Order: sequence, then structure tokens, then C-alpha cells
Amino acid sequence: MTNKFPHVKLPLCIKGELYFSGDKSISHRALMFGALATGKTQLTNVNSGDDVKSTIRVLSACGVEIIQNNDATIVNGNGFKSLKLPIQVLDCGNSGTTARLMMGLCAGEGIRVEMTGDASLRKRPMDRVLLPLRRMGAHFLARSDKFLPIMLSGDRLNSLNCVLPVASAQIKSALILAGLQADGITTITSPRQSRDHSERMLSAMGANIHIDGFVVTVEKSTKPLKPINMHIPGDVSSAAFFIVAATLLKSSEIIIKDVSLNPTRTAFLDYVESMGGFVNKEIIRTEMDEPSGNVLIKSAELTAYSPDISRIPNLIDELPLVALLASQATGTTIIKGAGELRFKESDRIKAIVTNLKKWNVNITELEDGFEIIGPNTLTPSSIESFGDHRIAMMMTIAALVAGEDISKLDFPEIAISFPEFFTALNQLIQHD
Ligand code: S3P
Repeated sequence: MTNKFPHVKLPLCIKGELYFSGDKSISHRALMFGALATGKTQLTNVNSGDDVKSTIRVLSACGVEIIQNNDATIVNGNGFKSLKLPIQVLDCGNSGTTARLMMGLCAGEGIRVEMTGDASLRKRPMDRVLLPLRRMGAHFLARSDKFLPIMLSGDRLNSLNCVLPVASAQIKSALILAGLQADGITTITSPRQSRDHSERMLSAMGANIHIDGFVVTVEKSTKPLKPINMHIPGDVSSAAFFIVAATLLKSSEIIIKDVSLNPTRTAFLDYVESMGGFVNKEIIRTEMDEPSGNVLIKSAELTAYSPDISRIPNLIDELPLVALLASQATGTTIIKGAGELRFKESDRIKAIVTNLKKWNVNITELEDGFEIIGPNTLTPSSIESFGDHRIAMMMTIAALVAGEDISKLDFPEIAISFPEFFTALNQLIQHD
């Protein structure tokens, strides 16, 4: 979608306190793991976006009873091997996490499924999950052996010892889910740290799962998994858009309440601090081994900072915002080792470079990242979202920083992760 602006400069800042809808990664997992548990899983603050709705839809199609009341979501889990053969194709919409984790879950359950997704998801590689599942004994047919739509059938699975080619929490989690129901001990080695919600939550549910550095081992579960009772903390990747707005808009100050502070998700907060940003975080509670708390952000002057490649997987969803921050910081920022960005909801390297170049930012595309020399004066032009929620939100924040009127902007794709984005933002905006 493309949006254009009337050019009016509006000096403004953001101020206030806000809560975010539940973390998307934790929400997907709580629903899926709840379906495998024996008993009633009770969740509040499940992420309100379309991706998590996709997970609810496909689990329901597999016979899982999910009841949504005003503020609570109940999953009536019937234990391992309780999912039913769905009569319809499982449509994962735009959600890579739904598709990839459900592949591991369905293979472990031993059910036969057909799976597809929207045009963007059908372009994203699935062989990274399907090939190791085949080695475990699952069967699949996929377009070009790689893409959705697929047909997958589980069987009695063998354990697996595998080294992942990329640090991906989605692949790791899919194999953990399959490993929970495979004979023997499955070992998954990642090249770098990626988000570890599956390990934490399944361990809290009583699964036999162990972590040693980047190596996860999971043993076939002989006991039922305990159901989950959890208030899901706010999504720190959604909060990141507000963190950038508050950092870049002079005289801003915001408090983000009860947001996920899982250490594999806070790399962006560390990054903002490394640039000279004001970030004060405090852990308040821990549920299902998932820490959460409050974060205070104030506006600041920034100096360019290039994160080490080892930090990239834990910054992956925030890299569009890293680019926006870098465009306003003094000095050169080099992002390398981020080739995975090309396989997200859009080719995010291309999407970032196309938009920021149009807005007059000194940015160079690299094969596996980008280089930015700052600071730059943002010159508003049209926004090309590439149908990608995170690009649409990043460029909306860029427009705000450039002093543009964002009230006419409309990007339906934002509903994928953060339908309340514009309402929340408008509540915090104050004109000087
Ligand atoms: C996710 C993992 C990340 C991330 C995605 C959500 C998850 O993908 O980009 O938005 O919930 O596991 P990869 O693990 O494939 O990098």
C-alpha cells in the first residue's frame, strides 16, 4: 500500500503511559502448547493481531476447543495425540510462526494436514522446517519441495540431532514440538541465540527440555504437560515503535507497562542504550519463566552504533527501526549478518532501503544488511509498505519524526500484529 502526505510541519512529542496487547510469539506458543497440555489453559492479554487469530483458526480446525471471552482465552487441552484430522486446508494467513510451528506440532501428533497461507507466506521458505521433519520420519509434499501449499503427514517420529543453518526460533520451536513426541532425545544446535520462549514455557509445563548454550535437547514426554495459567506480557516488538518515537521526538517521555523483558527479546532496548538513548527497565513479575516489567523512555541525542552479528537474531524484528534510528544518529551504522530479513513478510532489506532512500536518507543496500550515514533530515515522500506490517509502522514513525500529519495514513496490514497502533499513538501525541 502507498500513502502520500500533504506537507505540513507539526512540532510534537509523545508523552504518557501505555500497555500493549500480549506478545505475539508468546501468544502463539501459549495457544499451541495449551492444545497439547492436559487440562484447561487460561490466558489473558492474548495478542489481538491477525497472526494469532490464524493460530486460533488452525488449532480449532484440528479439533482444539478454544473459547474467547471478553478478556480471557481458554484452551481445553486433551493431551498428546488429541488433535483431529482437519477436514479443511489449514490457512495460516500471513503468519510464518503459525505455519512453521504447526508443521512440527502436527508431525508430532501424527495427523495428516494440508496447509497454505496468503501470497506473502506462500513465498517464504518452509524447507528449513520440512526437511528436518522428514529426517524424523514425517512425509510431505510441497510446491517446489519448499513452499506452501503443502501436504504433511506425521508418523511415529524418530529423534533427530541437527545443526540449524540459521538462528531461527521458528525452526527451533517446530523441531522442539516434534521432538516432544519423537522416540528418544532430539538435539537442536543453533548457530546463535534466538528467542527462547518455547524452551522456557515448555519447561515450566513439565516437558523434558534442557538448554546448554545454543544447544537444546528435548526428550519424548512420558507425562502430560501441565496447562498454562498466564497473563501474557505486552509485545516488546510493538512497544519498539513507541520507543523509537519517544527517543527521536524532543521532550518526549513514555512509560511502557508490563511488557515482555525476556532477555532474548531485549536486544533492541540494549541497542537504543548503546546509541545514547534513555532506557530504564525494571522487571516486575515472572510467569511461565517469562519475565516482564516496565520501561521508561525519554528523548535523547543519538550516536551511531553497529551491533555485533551475534546480536542480530534477537534484533531481527526491530531492524527496520534500527534503520530509522541510525538515519537520525551521528555517524555510520553498518548492519551485517541480517540476510534473514530478505525472507520475512517482505524482503525487508529492500523495503527499508527503498523507503529511506526515497526520504533522502544516505543508505546503501548490502547483501545481508545495510549501511547508513547520519544524521539525515527526513524528506517526506510516499510510503511503500510492501504489504508488511512492520515496514508500515516504521515509516509511520518516520513520518511523525519528520513532523508530518499522520492522521490520514491507513495501512490495513498493521492489523497483522498491532491493530491498536494508530489509536495508541494518537493518544500519546502532544502538539507543542
Ligand atoms: C518468531 C521468530 C522470528 C521472528 C518472528 C517470530 C517466533 O523468526 O522474526 O516474527 O515467534 O518464533 P525467525 O525465528 O524465523 O527468525
